[in-house]
Amino acid sequence: MTYAEITGWGKCLPPAVLSNADLSTFLDTSDEWITSRTGIQQRRIAHVDTSDLATVAAQHAMAAAGLEANDIDMVILATASPDTLIPSAAAKVAKNLKMKQPAVLDINAACTGFLYALHVATGLVKAGMNNNVLVIGAERLTHYLDWSKRDSCVLFGDGAGAVVVSASEQPAGLLSSTLGSDTEAREILYISDYGTSADRFAQPAGIYDLNFVGPEIFKRAVTGMGAAVSQVMSSAGLAKEDVDFVLPHQANLRIIESLAKRLGASEEQVLINIQNYGNTSAATIPIALCEALEAGRIKPQDNIMTAAFGAGLTWGAGYIKW
Ligand code: ACO
Repeated sequence: MTYAEITGWGKCLPPAVLSNADLSTFLDTSDEWITSRTGIQQRRIAHVDTSDLATVAAQHAMAAAGLEANDIDMVILATASPDTLIPSAAAKVAKNLKMKQPAVLDINAACTGFLYALHVATGLVKAGMNNNVLVIGAERLTHYLDWSKRDSCVLFGDGAGAVVVSASEQPAGLLSSTLGSDTEAREILYISDYGTSADRFAQPAGIYDLNFVGPEIFKRAVTGMGAAVSQVMSSAGLAKEDVDFVLPHQANLRIIESLAKRLGASEEQVLINIQNYGNTSAATIPIALCEALEAGRIKPQDNIMTAAFGAGLTWGAGYIKW
């Protein structure tokens, strides 16, 4: 049987830091409000394109996997903030990395994007259709924010994370996963003034209106991610005590804590870095994976549970055998 093992990983976080104290110099907000409601203390701001962040993360992941650019069959880039509408940001990454003819594809499932991309890549590799797929989550959402809107601009940050998924005989990688969406909740999180539904004559340059109903998203995220995790654990035959480590999407500390509680996971078993980076959307999970590995918190053979939710509303959960 062929598996789709994660053989390399890497991340890229831009160096510029914007703290809650910095935000409160020009917004009616405070470190106390942001920290107590979200867990966020600071975030990174990129001055380069999403594809530039993605390229650096991908270079680290390929080096860790011991692969050259032309060993990669396909680049899947999960992002809701691509450099351009056409072509895809994945195409730019492939060009930056001097790849010759890889398949290139962007996926927009917002904050669940990385799990969607990993699910697709794993399916392709397990089916024997590809050998090495580069899976990236990268965002420069701060580029689109309205910095006069305190309810949204305090939440997000920029960054990228990548993994290489390779065909392997080892029973490792994403062994079970589920994806879904809540079609009733399409309107509770969206960016207006963009795309074919926008009034093209009224569209302001570079600033888009992020509309969301925070408490409703909060409720649906807790329920949706919880149900997805239960479904994956049941299909993989895992009990709570079998889970060694948890890699949650980082949108709100209280949502992460609720997932950890559901899984009976201790503080040491959950990667939390929202305080440093805010919500980097599709990039949160691969960045969290890298930080857990760098800190020696994931060991060979560990059972890892991961889960995310995002605009759509989309959700997903996965069981990764390390
Ligand atoms: N600083 C100070 N006050 C603020 C700020 C701010 N940055 N932002 C909002 N407020 C005020 C509001 O105006 C409101 O004031 P009012 O009661 O006088 O009207 C008050 O704080 C409470 O606002 P709520 O939206 O009810 O705050 P809540 O406790 O629900 O927290 C939050 C908001 C953090 C967004 C929470 O709902 C949440 O985490 N939701 C889930 C995640 C989410 O929605 N993320 C954004 C979308 S992207 C994604 O994560 C997939």
